[in-house]
Amino acid sequence: MKTGYLNLKYKPKYQSEIIAIFYVESKLRLEKIAVEIAKESSIGSWTELTTSSQKIFDRLAPQIFYLNKKSKIIKIAYPLALFEPGNIPQLLSSLAGNIFSMKIVKNLRLLDIEFPQKYINSFAGPRWGIEGVRNILNIKKRPLIGSIIKPKVGLTAKQHAKLAYNVWRNGVDIVKDDENLTDLSFNKFNDRVSQVLKLRKKAEQETKLKKMHVFNITGPADVMLQRAKYVKKQGGRCVMIDLVACGLDNVQYLRKQNLGLIIHGHRAGHAMFTRNPKHGMTMLVLAKLSRLAGIDQLHTGTIVGKMEGDSEEVISINRFLKEDWRHFNFLRSDWSGIKPVMPIASGGLHPGLVPKLVKHLGQNLIINFGAGLHGHPDGSMAGAVACYAAVEAVHKNKNLVKYFKLYPELKVALKHWKQK
Ligand code: 3PG
Ligand code: 3PG
Ligand code: MG
Repeated sequence: MKTGYLNLKYKPKYQSEIIAIFYVESKLRLEKIAVEIAKESSIGSWTELTTSSQKIFDRLAPQIFYLNKKSKIIKIAYPLALFEPGNIPQLLSSLAGNIFSMKIVKNLRLLDIEFPQKYINSFAGPRWGIEGVRNILNIKKRPLIGSIIKPKVGLTAKQHAKLAYNVWRNGVDIVKDDENLTDLSFNKFNDRVSQVLKLRKKAEQETKLKKMHVFNITGPADVMLQRAKYVKKQGGRCVMIDLVACGLDNVQYLRKQNLGLIIHGHRAGHAMFTRNPKHGMTMLVLAKLSRLAGIDQLHTGTIVGKMEGDSEEVISINRFLKEDWRHFNFLRSDWSGIKPVMPIASGGLHPGLVPKLVKHLGQNLIINFGAGLHGHPDGSMAGAVACYAAVEAVHKNKNLVKYFKLYPELKVALKHWKQK
């Protein structure tokens, strides 16, 4: 029986195969470990099988077509028939499954996956995407200004709503729940939704601008759906899912309900498997899967803020980068008819970091300020003004110092966070 998995002359069929790109470390030679990875992630196991056949092999065996001993990168082409359309968990069970537990592997990292159009189109993707989110808020070009209510948890629904109103009134476009705020004894979900939306209406009437609140519906699937429906019924526009904690299949499930809500993807916990540069999977892969599942706006890193994520990694998700295995500008690029996703920079940002952030990531994103707004020495309202001023200055290509006169709050913020 012909059973070769290694075929460096093989030309991958981009229309009918899924290409997985791995970084591998092993005490075995790269050719050998690559074959073990190809087998265990598809039709093989650790020994020959009497139950297999030439027919199965010819139809389903993946081909290793690229192998670089210096960079330890391998590329494997998998026939599409190995994968169930529209099923992210099944894909993960193969490409992010048993292969990571094999003793013969020392380190293994799933760097990227390329999908054929047919597979991509078995998913709905985002309902709104970048254009939809911008249209809802009626902001065409400048970065969108977001604020996470701080403290993360602790405020009552009433305090939360009032704070949201105060920062909306002072330049913030989007207010959001933090990743660990759901339905807590001192801040009940339904109560928060109704109080916040009442004040959103007031803020919109007073500012004559559209505003958004991101409600964190994270929880078991039935509970999430119930909460999303409640948000919809009350006139909300956006819900948030902690997508690592809840799983992308739950994102997909929510997307399929077609409630018309923007789905905001918080990635808390992703670094458990994306952070080690030699093992796990890249944030880029998680971003691709999130886009398939239907996330409209996704946390992707800040480079300049408090969270890990080097500039190459974050930029490859958000913007152009020259490197052989990375997709360029992935979230904002065309992708077989699946809408582009709005990147979110969040974590440790304050007004003074906006120029550098935008230099790295451009202006087509949401910039989220938590403590860098609510930690302003003169309070949240001053913090909101300072954040708005910094974004406006950068949008108009002006030095922040030029805005000090117009917005003294910005001067205070820059002085306060000078060393950070
Ligand atoms: C499993 O699902 O646990 C593995 O597929 C085990 O398969 P093996 O006995 O062929 O290693
Ligand atoms: C987030 O969820 O992204 C964080 O809450 C950001 O908060 P910070 O701006 O206070 O770091
Ligand atoms: Mg947070």
